[in-house]
Amino acid sequence: MRKTSVRLSVNINKIATIRNARGGNTPNVALAAKNTEAFGAEGITVHPRPDQRHITYADVRELKEIVTTEFNVEGYPNAEFMKLVEEVKPHQVTLVPDPPGVLTSNAGWNTIEHADFLKDVIAQLSSWGARTSVFIETDEAMIEGAKACGSDRIELYTEAYATGFAKNPEEAVAPFVRSAAFARDIGLGVNAGHDLNLDNLAFFAQEVKGLQEVSIGHALISDALYYGLENTVQMYLGKL
Ligand code: PXP
Repeated sequence: MRKTSVRLSVNINKIATIRNARGGNTPNVALAAKNTEAFGAEGITVHPRPDQRHITYADVRELKEIVTTEFNVEGYPNAEFMKLVEEVKPHQVTLVPDPPGVLTSNAGWNTIEHADFLKDVIAQLSSWGARTSVFIETDEAMIEGAKACGSDRIELYTEAYATGFAKNPEEAVAPFVRSAAFARDIGLGVNAGHDLNLDNLAFFAQEVKGLQEVSIGHALISDALYYGLENTVQMYLGKL
């Protein structure tokens, strides 16, 4: 019995990182996606980056044929990314303002400064039938900006929550509770992700009312090394 209606989307980038270390097909990303779904995950997330250092564009094309739950493709919407998305038509596209070469996403969009660009991209994605989500911090002006750009949802960037959680969970979650309520009030759906793990997930999901989806990669795939993928997916679902 689940405690919340929050859906778990598993980011499988790290499986590809391990595979790419040897250049073969072990571990097999497609098999990992199938198993992750079979073990209960409600979505698969991938984040192809321009250097294709983990998930490749070919992986995204292959996964399109395999994923039976929600397929969420994240990334910076350059021309190549948009071409891929047009071809693959995932259920959801999460727009991330990654500068080239970053290790991992490290900031949300400035939806005011980049409004014209985001409006065009979101209109295009919507015309292809994808739900759109904008990776964002908890600033209300940025959330309003996401709405003005036509996005369906926001994905709250939870690194600040994860960092603050150990010291003071209530204080760490408060801005997310407020911004999720604000987003819902202006008609946006709310996802969240980054640095969520077995310790901090349950509190976040319980406190942030109306949260629809979390996408979790690094900690979950790392935990799978200790507990196995099936146990791990179940353990994360048990927090939601
Ligand atoms: N959301 C976005 C936009 C991301 O870029 C990432 C990392 O690829 C995540 C969520 C998942 O973060 P983590 O790997 O820390 O769970």
